[in-house]
Amino acid sequence: HPARFALDPAFTVAPVDPRLFGSFVEHLGRCVYTGIYEPGHPAADGDGLRTDVLDLIRELGVTAIRYPGGNFVSGYRWEDGVGPADERPHRLDPAWRTTESNAFGLAEFMGFLGKLGPQAEPMMALNLGTRGVTEALELQEYANHPAGTRLSDRRIAHGDPEPFGIRLWCLGNEMDGPWQIGHKDAEDYGKLAAATARAMRMVDPDVQLVACGSSGRSMPTFGAWESTVLQHTYELVDYVSMHAYYEEVDGDRDSFLASAADMESFIGSVVATCDAAGARLKSDKRINISFDEWNVWYMQRSQQEARDNPLDWPHAPRLLEDNYSVTDAVVLGSLLITLLRHADRVTVACLAQLVNVIAPIMTEPGGPAWRQTTFFPFAQASAYGRGRVLRVEPESPVHATARHGEVPLLHATAVRDDETGAVTVFAVNRDQHHPLPLEVALHGAAADLAGVVEHSVLTDPDPDATNTLAAPERVVPRPLAGTQITGGVLRTTLPPLSWNVIRLT
Ligand code: AHR
Repeated sequence: HPARFALDPAFTVAPVDPRLFGSFVEHLGRCVYTGIYEPGHPAADGDGLRTDVLDLIRELGVTAIRYPGGNFVSGYRWEDGVGPADERPHRLDPAWRTTESNAFGLAEFMGFLGKLGPQAEPMMALNLGTRGVTEALELQEYANHPAGTRLSDRRIAHGDPEPFGIRLWCLGNEMDGPWQIGHKDAEDYGKLAAATARAMRMVDPDVQLVACGSSGRSMPTFGAWESTVLQHTYELVDYVSMHAYYEEVDGDRDSFLASAADMESFIGSVVATCDAAGARLKSDKRINISFDEWNVWYMQRSQQEARDNPLDWPHAPRLLEDNYSVTDAVVLGSLLITLLRHADRVTVACLAQLVNVIAPIMTEPGGPAWRQTTFFPFAQASAYGRGRVLRVEPESPVHATARHGEVPLLHATAVRDDETGAVTVFAVNRDQHHPLPLEVALHGAAADLAGVVEHSVLTDPDPDATNTLAAPERVVPRPLAGTQITGGVLRTTLPPLSWNVIRLT
């Protein structure tokens, strides 16, 4: 029988924070070098930024961009990346066993954001691995103080008279992970994060701060870590971070297609942990979620590659360059649906990462740039998922999965544009083999929706199809005919294993 839900604009989840469509640029592999920055490339501008990549990033519609790491940041000295290019040191990056040239740094990053346009915003990660309060304050002064102090005047001397105005800061990265340079236990990290937050707020009470949550749900300290960190930081931070990556394991595609079930309950657990911490402190303040690393990542493959080929400190090698399939794109779409469905508490999210490294955009050094399959659901969600998330409670046929138990075949959400009243439905059919009929009853103000502007679908007879350098447009979304509104009900059929965007006015 068909899957069904009702849409009524009187029942909403929350407005969508534009920062939900964030991404991540780390000094890792070829994300920066030969990714966004490649002086001498035929498409590079005067600052060495690849204009072909800038165009694709604009089309992708990313907002907040987290920088400069990731694991990289926990050994990074921001001072290495500012000032005259020929005075910048080369350094070892122990996190990825590569050499960092520091040709690209803070000013180059801010210049890159400026070229992306006003929707692009920095999300600056601080090194709380090998460094602490002093260096955080120094970076804040260099970046944000107008003038008249040693560090702000240094920025001006380096060619940036205007302060960068960075509002959103991450207090370290994955500090719970034993792999993290300067890894700490929850007590030590919580105290350091609190001290750093307190000092930064003394300079600027309006900074927005993210405390590190667990680097994954499977961490042995998950839950306890968040509780302890929040005990120290609750009144001082705005967000707790979450990170999650999904991959297909042992050919179990049904479980992989249901990855969002894990993400949903992970979000529920962290929200509950944050609220419990607030209740204990009798605080009225609410901590939100910064889901600042999420994606499909074939991590087992990356780990095997690292074992087979320990790196001898190269500069910008090919690392973590996953080539995404149609199936991966459908899963990524489903993860986006999850983030939107939790827009009341998830108000920052960063697709990790942006270019070349587990990324929606790929480049060839000296050659072209192209869109991976995963580019499309993100670009469509960012373009049409702006406004207010409507409460969608589907009734759907289910099937059993080995990892997530019984899951609905339909995963869906809908977003309404406050100004025009237009509604976009985002829907995934998790069934690999069968089409899924769908009926959406349009209630309340949604009854005024009369027409289907477009039903775009990403699916393929070959669910493993990818876009590559040789065939960069093998997979693209295509219009689907036959979706109609009759008698106040939208009727359609979602193809097997598909990502769907249905725009209604
Ligand atoms: O995004 C790749 C890596 O994944 C990041 O550097 C780290 O924070 C996470 O473990």
